Amino acid sequence: MTHEPHESRVNGGTNCTIILFGASGDLSRRKLIPALYALVKANKFKKFLIIGAAKDQVTAQQILARAKGFIANVDEAPWQILTEAFHYHELDFKKVDDFKQLASKVKELEKKAGLSGNRIVYVAAASDFFIPITENCAASGLVKKYEPNENTWQRIVYEKPFGKDLASAQAINKCIANLFDEKQIFRIDHYLTKEIVGNIALVRFTNCVFEPLWDNRYIDNVQIILSEKVCIEGRGVYFDAYGALKDVVQNHMLQLVSLIAMEAPYQLTGEYIRNERALVLDRVRIVDGILGQCDTYAQEPGVKPNSTTETFAALQLMIDNPRWAGVPFYLRTGKCLNKKETIIHIKFKQVDCLLSKACPSDSNYLTIKVAPEASFALELNAKKVGAAYEVTPIKMEFCHSCVFGPYTPDAHEVLLEEIMRGEQAVSVRFDEIESAWKIIDKIKAMNFPLYRYKSGSAGPKEMETFAKKHGARLR
Ligand code: BG6
Repeated sequence: MTHEPHESRVNGGTNCTIILFGASGDLSRRKLIPALYALVKANKFKKFLIIGAAKDQVTAQQILARAKGFIANVDEAPWQILTEAFHYHELDFKKVDDFKQLASKVKELEKKAGLSGNRIVYVAAASDFFIPITENCAASGLVKKYEPNENTWQRIVYEKPFGKDLASAQAINKCIANLFDEKQIFRIDHYLTKEIVGNIALVRFTNCVFEPLWDNRYIDNVQIILSEKVCIEGRGVYFDAYGALKDVVQNHMLQLVSLIAMEAPYQLTGEYIRNERALVLDRVRIVDGILGQCDTYAQEPGVKPNSTTETFAALQLMIDNPRWAGVPFYLRTGKCLNKKETIIHIKFKQVDCLLSKACPSDSNYLTIKVAPEASFALELNAKKVGAAYEVTPIKMEFCHSCVFGPYTPDAHEVLLEEIMRGEQAVSVRFDEIESAWKIIDKIKAMNFPLYRYKSGSAGPKEMETFAKKHGARLR
């Protein structure tokens, strides 16, 4: 297997130019510029430039001033370094001449700064622009196709959503494959760089108390919940065209499924992990589901009247392979719910023993909490104090911040660092993206019923019927 050159980060960090398409947008302001600031503060760059590009008539100062509000306790020295390295270039994503001007500006600035030509092109724009941006990056020479033995690297990063269905994702992938090499492509899912998510595979594969039990002989069911208190947050136009299935199931939730269900990769890095994740997605079969729409959704700006877009989805799926045959995976997500929680419950089967009858049936869970506080908890059976043989569930818990301190880097900060290193495990390969869209297209074609639910509730009350129908005790 050949890899792109990895940037050595020892003694003083990376040397590169970051070109940010969509620099005036929400993602740049809330996540990317704060993440770049954090990297500057942590001395992760030796020399660097940031060139924001978008169609808006704004200045670099205006973009930075808006982003600053999303950084807690700004330290002025690194902020000043970031400000000096930040430039803005106005351009139309569809005009190749604009890209040619940008490419010569980048070259000139790189020469002045003594940069070698390592580049990250970060596409934080709507996926309708992915094809023109990709074509214009190639035509203008802003990004060169990867060649073995080159000393510099140039990488393109695409933020989700990557397309809106299988056909559009295939069209983008085809355009990328014609012009670039998969080794320089990063399709981003920020869940893959959450510290606790990275821990899932590690904990499973390195602990003898889990690894041998991780299959249909010992696991009863798996529940993955991504529950949000927030509603649409001003993203009505986008959300109404996508809905919960395409917004979070297609990417974050199916990535969690594949991380939990994958076979052991040869190594816990790059291509090895992506191969295993892809095999899982290829075997996913949707069995059942219900959808929901929150009662306040129609009042959100940008939402079409009488919209049937789902803000809630619950699914039962199976993974058709020998390890998981017969084990249902339940996925549940929603906006405007009663709590913010991203959590995975792995329910182990009950032991058939003398005390089975006394054992609470809702015990023996491994629970991985991604948010709000990252933790692992193991629910076991123990003896009730004083009683002869009465059993009670107890919890053994590992709280991430209690052990590693309150600061864990933000997902986008880790992401940028991993992209600079060329670590592709944080990126979703073309076949994974296409399998995930295939699953979503199938769900859409199954026309699951859409129920209303009250904002601030736990979701549609029909969830009870759904759980009963499948004999499932859903948490
Ligand atoms: C994003 C979705 O990808 O993920 C948002 O577009 C969602 O709608 C968010 O709120 C959830 O991410 P996190 O990290 O807050 O769980």
